[in-house]
Amino acid sequence: HVTIKSICCIGAGYVGGPTCAVIAHKNPHIKVTIVDLNAARIAAWNSDELPIYEPGLDEVVKSTRGKNLFFSTDVDAGILEADLIFVSVNTPTKIKGIGAGFAADLGYVESATRKIAEVAKSDKIVVEKSTVPCRTAQSMRYIVSTPNLFLTHLGSFSTNTDALPTRGSQLEANAKPDIHFDILSNPEFLAEGTAISDLFYPDRVLIGSLDTERGRSAAASLADVYAGWVARDQIITMNLWSSELSKLAANALLAQRISSINALSAICEATGADIDEVSYACGLDTRIGPKFLKASVGFGGSCFQKDILNLVYLSESLHLPEVATYWKQVVEMNEYQKRRFTNRVISCLFNTLTGKKIAVFGFAFKKDTGDTRESPAITLVNYFREEKAYISIYDPKVEESQVWMDLAEPGVVDETEVIKKQVSIAADPYEAAAGADAIVICTEWNDFRETVLDYERIYASMKKPAFIFDGRLILDAKKVSEIGFKVETIGRPRTTFVQSKDFE
Ligand code: NAD
Ligand code: UDX
Repeated sequence: HVTIKSICCIGAGYVGGPTCAVIAHKNPHIKVTIVDLNAARIAAWNSDELPIYEPGLDEVVKSTRGKNLFFSTDVDAGILEADLIFVSVNTPTKIKGIGAGFAADLGYVESATRKIAEVAKSDKIVVEKSTVPCRTAQSMRYIVSTPNLFLTHLGSFSTNTDALPTRGSQLEANAKPDIHFDILSNPEFLAEGTAISDLFYPDRVLIGSLDTERGRSAAASLADVYAGWVARDQIITMNLWSSELSKLAANALLAQRISSINALSAICEATGADIDEVSYACGLDTRIGPKFLKASVGFGGSCFQKDILNLVYLSESLHLPEVATYWKQVVEMNEYQKRRFTNRVISCLFNTLTGKKIAVFGFAFKKDTGDTRESPAITLVNYFREEKAYISIYDPKVEESQVWMDLAEPGVVDETEVIKKQVSIAADPYEAAAGADAIVICTEWNDFRETVLDYERIYASMKKPAFIFDGRLILDAKKVSEIGFKVETIGRPRTTFVQSKDFE
């Protein structure tokens, strides 16, 4: 099989950037070029202020950039030079057209694939790094074989394999007869906030290929790249469709655990059980295990919801409505959890938020990242706005401009000034909490623990009774309530002022 000397990664985002930086770091003999159409993003990758915050990333990038790691907007040059190309572009949920709200928008994958087909002058191994619906590799293979073909519904129709050429059919013949493209699936399992350690010490690396000599040979070439630092027995090869589906399946199973524990948190609140104790007890069963059983205000992030909706769409397309309903419930439970927590805040604050100040601690979807995609904090702030509260947000890593973008209605211009009448951004947690009626912890940043923050100082600055709603179970409720706070924790029974209305 071919020994890879030059890699191009299309898409310099949360996945392409860290993944290919680590590949370069661990394989000094391979030239890695990460390309993107977004010039500002590439400029940031080439500067001292990287475009994403990820512990350990700065060190990896700084040790390799300019040596065998390059960031560029010249997509064509990147493709021309590479033996192997990662397609690591975004695959958001479609907002319009067939499958809107569920199916993945594969427009970016399609245009990157077309670009490869158009520009390449030598054989290429093309690797799906983006998370895609099952059988997308087949569509990609079709595109590189017939670059002038116009596929409008790549995502929606990716399961309709009848519409696509089968192996050996005439259409599969390359549009550029002397050039061969091999398509591999290599889904990424890193989680944000721990991306570098996930990449350094992966549980497994998954490579899907066609079960043909060429397919197996391409998979072996990619396996060699990972073997630069990953043990061979952790590099798993399998068929393309299993590999694609495994990515959606892994995310669905992880998110399902969170929705399951969050469903149980509602029972805890109503009965006097404590969700942390229930998680602990269940997690000790080695068949269940302790991870991903932390109750929360809801899961966020760019992957879980998108990938489950994708699985729901796939199930529906395959005429499996019961399967679709099963997975959809994971997302519905997550929405319910955010609504339920908001209702608890309103109810404890004497059934009205009008004119009250709420300090929101944390806007990122989890700690150790500045990423806010699908962050539960966005939903909560929007609920608080509807209740006419004033909201002051503090997050250690989220840019102010990002908050305004997240809170704006899509398509509405100049809305920021309207939002600013109700929402402000604080420079630190003390400023956010000053004069507030309640603190709502949305992100589990260590900075918010009672061992780090001076909650006595915060208490003194707040209106009384001063409430803390811990949506992440990070506070020692006993210690904080000794200061005087009314502490309400997700998955634990309510401690304050139960109104008769609650029993109706
Ligand atoms: P992202 O939005 O951060 O980055 C994607 C980048 O691709 C953008 O910078 C965009 O400008 C660029 N791009 C789009 N089309 C392009 C084109 N034709 N040519 C050149 N550049 C192009 O997205 P991300 O979070 O890195 O996710 C990428 C993929 O990886 C998605 O499919 C996602 O589901 C998957 N994934 C994400 C994570 C995660 O934690 N974020 C984890 C595993 C898998
Ligand atoms: C996830 C997958 O973990 C990763 O393998 C995949 O490649 C991309 O999607 P990510 O979204 O970055 O990673 O973070 P993750 O740690 O999975 O957290 C997702 C959300 O679930 C966060 O909002 C987090 O706070 C929440 N969560 C996680 C819980 O509420 N409880 C838990 O026990 C774990």
